[in-house]
Amino acid sequence: MADENLCYEGIPFPRVTFKPEILRKAREEFVMKDEDVVLVTFPKSGTHWLIEILCLIQSKGDTKWVQSVPTWERSPWIELESGFALANKEGPRLLTSHLPIQLFPKSFFSSKAKVIYLIRNPKDIIVSSYFFWNSVNLAKKPKSVEQCLEWFLEGKMPYGSWFDHVHGWVSMRERENFLLLSYEELKWDTERSVEKICQFLGKKVEPEELSLILKNSSFQVMKENKMSNFSMVDDAYLVHKNPLMRKGVTGDWKNYFTVAQAEAFDKLFQEKMADLPRELFPWE
Ligand code: A3P
Repeated sequence: MADENLCYEGIPFPRVTFKPEILRKAREEFVMKDEDVVLVTFPKSGTHWLIEILCLIQSKGDTKWVQSVPTWERSPWIELESGFALANKEGPRLLTSHLPIQLFPKSFFSSKAKVIYLIRNPKDIIVSSYFFWNSVNLAKKPKSVEQCLEWFLEGKMPYGSWFDHVHGWVSMRERENFLLLSYEELKWDTERSVEKICQFLGKKVEPEELSLILKNSSFQVMKENKMSNFSMVDDAYLVHKNPLMRKGVTGDWKNYFTVAQAEAFDKLFQEKMADLPRELFPWE
């Protein structure tokens, strides 16, 4: 059922659960509110980890919410029908999206809603994507890491070209309502990253609350939380029971890329990202 991806405005999307009409409505009709916080990522950049952190910041480390409501209800996806309906609720909203900037709700650009854009070493995204898309029945499955790398370079992975996605979103980095974060800094210094997020959101957390946030968003705790580890997803969509919480490390690409593949990728990365400052990419 997911042998081919859906193509919308030149961008591939998982065929299952995505609808062109909802994608159109997301851009044209979604009303962004000033108090909204939206987490935006290219898939496999650590989206669910950051959702967990944001939810725990909101609950000051208390686990009641994250252990009773699935991730996609706590922070609905703007571009999905389920998320689109949930997102229309009242009050400050936490929202998620993988949309490239050109398909993002137009209303965001004249609002004060806050966007946190999370990036990750693309070589790790490729490895993570290979395992993920083979663990779910949602989109076209790459046969090998090599094929996944090819699709990634051709912009054929769900949500299209990573290079375009990043270019589009980091162009917003001077805006007050935009925070650029990386999976790597989150991993290497989670505490400082959480403090940075709190500062951006104007939230004050006490030291003991911070400890709870860190503990309850850790890989191990999330892996065991059925509201966060994808085990609540309908079995029809799953090949493996726990497709999300795989390794949770940086640099796993070294176990899968050949030296030649890594060199070719790095060369292309330099060419495609030459216009952006290197310090935006801490894994470099
Ligand atoms: P790996 O496949 O490399 O292990 P997304 O949520 O965007 O789909 O990203 C999934 C990736 O984030 C997976 O990477 C997953 O293991 C990692 N991840 C999820 N929760 C994490 C956590 N608490 N700490 C570190 N990595 C986490």
